[in-house]
Amino acid sequence: MSKPKVLVTRKIFPEWIDYISKNAELDLWEDELPPPRDILLNKVKGVDGILCLLTDKIDPELMDIAGSQLKVISQIAVGFDNINIDEATKRKIPVGNTPDVLTSTTADATWSLLMSIARRISESERFVHNNKWKTWHPLHFLGQDIYNSTLGIIGMGRIGYEVAKRAIGFDCKILYYDVNRRLDLEEKLPMQYVDLNTLLKESDIVSLHTVLNDDTYHLIGENELKLMKNNSILVNVSRGPVVDTKALYRALKDKIIWAAALDVTDPEPILKDDPLLQLDNCLIVPHIASASYKTRYEMSRISAQNLINGINKKTLLTCINPEVNY
Ligand code: DGY
Repeated sequence: MSKPKVLVTRKIFPEWIDYISKNAELDLWEDELPPPRDILLNKVKGVDGILCLLTDKIDPELMDIAGSQLKVISQIAVGFDNINIDEATKRKIPVGNTPDVLTSTTADATWSLLMSIARRISESERFVHNNKWKTWHPLHFLGQDIYNSTLGIIGMGRIGYEVAKRAIGFDCKILYYDVNRRLDLEEKLPMQYVDLNTLLKESDIVSLHTVLNDDTYHLIGENELKLMKNNSILVNVSRGPVVDTKALYRALKDKIIWAAALDVTDPEPILKDDPLLQLDNCLIVPHIASASYKTRYEMSRISAQNLINGINKKTLLTCINPEVNY
């Protein structure tokens, strides 16, 4: 009997590629860059399952072209704004993702970015590498203290909470804003629920951990940036479009805020001529917050298992639309 067909749109850990190929007829896109749209649409024809990345747009057109035998969409990420979930649910296709395993790794990365930008680590490292270090100077590379600062977390989900936990060691005051007040978490950590404007006005560091949807698109724009303190820092490890990039550039250039550290940009990758790249007070890394060996291995495992479970109509380990999970 022929095996079910699956498309995997990028290399994952080899052990999990082996696991998939033992259990399915595998079409693996091996390039470093995502498959161009026309190739992706061609490759999904007739597959039983797709293992995709946040760079692949999984919309009704793609689901139509794939065909009615499509049984599972398995995303190797926790975020899923590239997938039309309503449409998948309508077609009774479960969509898997990889939550939990990346929570602490992403929280660690948030703190790495925050500490790097606050103490100008990346900028001063460039200075040394460019042979510009001539002497110790009392006024060189002055940054912002993190200890005793007020940390404002927007989005108190799993990652936001882990970021908050780490702030205790720095004696930070923690404010948070979310559409839902989290009394359960307030019982565990000393943190205060405030409205968005209060958070922006009172925080020294604003850290974004929200999902991207219609409500959070450009959540941080010109008006919000103007509310922030002049010596404040914005950290974004959520999704690029949560911040209005043009407004951020103006705010950084005009010193409306002090600095920003971005794991995510809009678009991704950032365009070569984006003026943000010219600013010393903007640290940008290429969407690496979950990129530890252990976490990416676990993300590979879960997404591979979700894929194979799905093509066999077995329950996915983690499912975004549980109402259609097997
Ligand atoms: C996710 O999982 O959504 C991250 O952005 C990549 O790990």
